[in-house]
Amino acid sequence: MLTDTYNSNIFSLALDKIYQLSTTYSSNLNPLIDVGLGASVGFNQWHDDSINLDQDTLRQVNVYAEPSGELSLRKYIQNHYQKHLGIELSLDRIMVTNGASEALLLAFMILLSKTKNKLILPEFHYPCYKLLAAMLGKRFCFAAADSDYNCSIESVAASISKETGAIVINSPSNPFGKIIDTTRLQALCKLDIPIIADETYRLLSFEKQSPSLLSVSQQHFVINSFSKSLAMPGLRLGYLIVPESYIEQTITFKLGLNISTSIASQILGCKMIENRLGKLPNYSKYLRQNRDLLVSKCRQHGIKLACSPEAGIFAVLDTSKYGSSVAVAERLLMECGVLCAPMSDFRQPDPGFIRINYSCSAEQLDTVLDRIVVNFSNTHRKNHFIPTGETKNEATHNEYNRIVV
Ligand SMILES: Cc1ncc(COP(=O)(O)O)c(C=O)c1O
Repeated sequence: MLTDTYNSNIFSLALDKIYQLSTTYSSNLNPLIDVGLGASVGFNQWHDDSINLDQDTLRQVNVYAEPSGELSLRKYIQNHYQKHLGIELSLDRIMVTNGASEALLLAFMILLSKTKNKLILPEFHYPCYKLLAAMLGKRFCFAAADSDYNCSIESVAASISKETGAIVINSPSNPFGKIIDTTRLQALCKLDIPIIADETYRLLSFEKQSPSLLSVSQQHFVINSFSKSLAMPGLRLGYLIVPESYIEQTITFKLGLNISTSIASQILGCKMIENRLGKLPNYSKYLRQNRDLLVSKCRQHGIKLACSPEAGIFAVLDTSKYGSSVAVAERLLMECGVLCAPMSDFRQPDPGFIRINYSCSAEQLDTVLDRIVVNFSNTHRKNHFIPTGETKNEATHNEYNRIVV
């Protein structure tokens, strides 16, 4: 088990600071390329979505939806699991949510109590896991990853205590794009602790199929989203699949939180899903090509990749020899207009890694990597940006002086 206490301020995200910096200094920067945000960019093809919304449909959007979600959307989800994984899900177990974000919140609220008040999170994790837990006044500890940045069953088992309310797993993972295989999923289920499986990137697997926890057990909580796989983050649509015994409580909590997910989003979402589901193989092919470009270029120029992603939209560069992750993210932003995500948000102590979203166009990815290569090899630059706060205090990096040496 890794440290129980989190020694940096989780309510202050380093990525936010990098964005603030990019806004403040936008006029000074190279034409900016944003590979920091977690959106599926290159295959968000709006011109392919010719959606007709008739008067009747439009009239229906100004009402509350069913708390568990529109029947048509839940039927899509049900069919998907039936057709692709051979899993029969009762519609009642499917709760449509405001993105995977709300599904996570609901699962945390349901599974964490006064005595079972602690989550086991992956060592490297989507930062909102600990943010949501902290917002609920709950605790968390981290299970160390294995040497390949995947889930280690031994570490998870060693992290269990009498206070453990749930284990959070994320497969394919953000940030590494690692898939937890069926054997490990089975081993996790044997630990006999409720599992919350965040499968937001499962449909963007290109190396091998990413199994769903639902193929192994019906006793746990499974989360997914349309934000990444179908590139529709703006509609805020995701879902939570709960065990039979939690259906009623989930509906009650959803009613308390926001009554229902926007019906306008759900109607529009259904129409877009119809159009986009069939294109998933193209999206995966696109991501594989970009991943291959990234891996070969990094290899060619001696940029260290933490590991080769098997799925999803992110790759992690080990830039520890150039400084802290925030310092490197600041430097790439200010010196070459590349906005990437510092990984101090994803793991403490700071691993000195940065995350790149490779779902941009291949041309943009190529330019980003060129700029990084030049920047890292250019140790004696003429125009040098010195952050006055630098990384001694990561929270203080909004004051810059331009120094010409
Ligand atoms: C692992 C993971 N889970 C959940 C989410 C939240 O996604 P959504 O847009 O569906 O709320 C994200 C978003 O980046 C994510 O990376």
